[in-house]
Amino acid sequence: MTSDLSPIDTAKYAAARRAVDFVEDGMRVGLGTGSTAEWMVKCLGERVRNEGLRITGVATSKRTAKLAEEVGIKVVSLDEAKWLNLTIDGADEYDHDLNLIKGGGGAHLIEKIVATASDQMIVIADLSKQVDTLGAFPLPVEVIPFGWQTTKSLIEETLVNLDVMGRTVTRRMADGEPFVSDEGNFILDLDLKRIGDARQTSLVLNQIPGVVENGLFIDICDIVVIGAGDGSVELRDLSRGTIDHEPAREGGEENMFVEIDD
Ligand code: A5P
Repeated sequence: MTSDLSPIDTAKYAAARRAVDFVEDGMRVGLGTGSTAEWMVKCLGERVRNEGLRITGVATSKRTAKLAEEVGIKVVSLDEAKWLNLTIDGADEYDHDLNLIKGGGGAHLIEKIVATASDQMIVIADLSKQVDTLGAFPLPVEVIPFGWQTTKSLIEETLVNLDVMGRTVTRRMADGEPFVSDEGNFILDLDLKRIGDARQTSLVLNQIPGVVENGLFIDICDIVVIGAGDGSVELRDLSRGTIDHEPAREGGEENMFVEIDD
């Protein structure tokens, strides 16, 4: 139950639960990756089970696909769905224009494809993800394994001419081995500290041979739902130019936790 959750998990749950209100019967929905997105998938599964909501999900990672199927969401490929009504995903950073850094979980390539193929992207987050300027979170860049060290050198050379404060590039590791994405690629984490021009940085990085995709999401996110440790949420809608605050909701979570928690 939410009363047993830490403040950070309460914030993630609150954001996730509010975001799934945007999902309507018959929608095709992109399902994000990460700890906040996991709450969203569980909340969506609860609506499928309790309300008979009929939706089709497109997962942004293997682990999200597995969880979605476990909670009763029908999962298809993006090519089967073709176009999505909505994608709900987490983020590692968001700024005031709702530009994002994503990829802390190594799924930003598929996340960007799925979000771009959606009419609307909603990000679910807590206030710790909010920044004035992107870049404190190391920027993930997915590169193909062939010649990755050459690609890394090219990225380092390119950074010299970009408006960034840090220039350290590190290959991501997991359990002492190179991290490998769902697509079989490596991730380089760029510790840029402050990205002066995120749009230019994104464009320039993606022009380097060997780079598959970077974790900057520019002009993709429409709404951010920010959860707080007390269960309240703030909704920022970029196109409507609105900011709404909503108090914590009571009840409803017990069934979900009893049925899904392991
Ligand atoms: C996955 O690759 C990422 O883009 C995640 O969406 C991001 O790291 C947020 O994850 P958390 O919700 O776990 O913070």
